[in-house]
Amino acid sequence: MSDRIRLSIDGRELEVKPPVSLLQAAASDGTPLTSNVGCMGQGVCGACRCMVRREGEKAVSTVLACETSAEDGMQVSFIDYFSPHRPHVYDVAAITDSWRVADAVRDIFPEAEHCRHCGGCDRACPKGLEVQNGVALAVAGNLADAADVFDQCVMCNLCTLACPEHIWPNHLGLMVRRAVTALTLRPVDLITRLDEIERGQQPITFSGEDDDDAADRTANRAGTPRKG
Ligand code: SF4
Ligand code: SF4
Ligand code: FES
Repeated sequence: MSDRIRLSIDGRELEVKPPVSLLQAAASDGTPLTSNVGCMGQGVCGACRCMVRREGEKAVSTVLACETSAEDGMQVSFIDYFSPHRPHVYDVAAITDSWRVADAVRDIFPEAEHCRHCGGCDRACPKGLEVQNGVALAVAGNLADAADVFDQCVMCNLCTLACPEHIWPNHLGLMVRRAVTALTLRPVDLITRLDEIERGQQPITFSGEDDDDAADRTANRAGTPRKG
């Protein structure tokens, strides 16, 4: 009995030896990977989104090719990247009042209020995120919890593809995460580090420069006299 399996990827009939991911299977016949791949299998870029129909099943599911094992009889189609038909333009620095956040969501993503709770985005999400809930939380102005929902989003756009109301849930999630970051304090260790650099206490050494030279240069740029 052969230890190889057969599957179809974008119309190409392939024979591979498992275990391999769909992404590895797609490259197994020497076809160059020029699209639908970014992080080369780390599962963080969302570029390898594809539709999959398994042997004996009618339903089609959406997955990330680098995180899905190739199976015998699978039919796989990669999904091209697509751009928003209406770009969401906003200045995150202008969202300064947390009491007005729900207004900002309504202004920038007016479609979000019309979520029909169909669950299409949840079913489409290869990361298993509660996308529909994230949209509802954002509309309600609960940015912190909405940002948590989208924390592991890889911007594959599959929820957007599935949404009949053109809400672009992942882009809403991105805006929410940006706003939460802008409205909350930066990490203490980062603030401390920047403060130390500003006061010349964290010299940065360039090649060919010794520590004393670096300390002098850093102190001079910071405008503070160097001790000792
Ligand atoms: S929330 Fe949307 S864009 Fe993000 S991982 Fe899930 S389906 Fe992809
Ligand atoms: S797919 Fe769109 S309309 Fe349906 S639940 Fe998700 S956000 Fe709402
Ligand atoms: S190649 Fe980046 S998520 Fe699959």
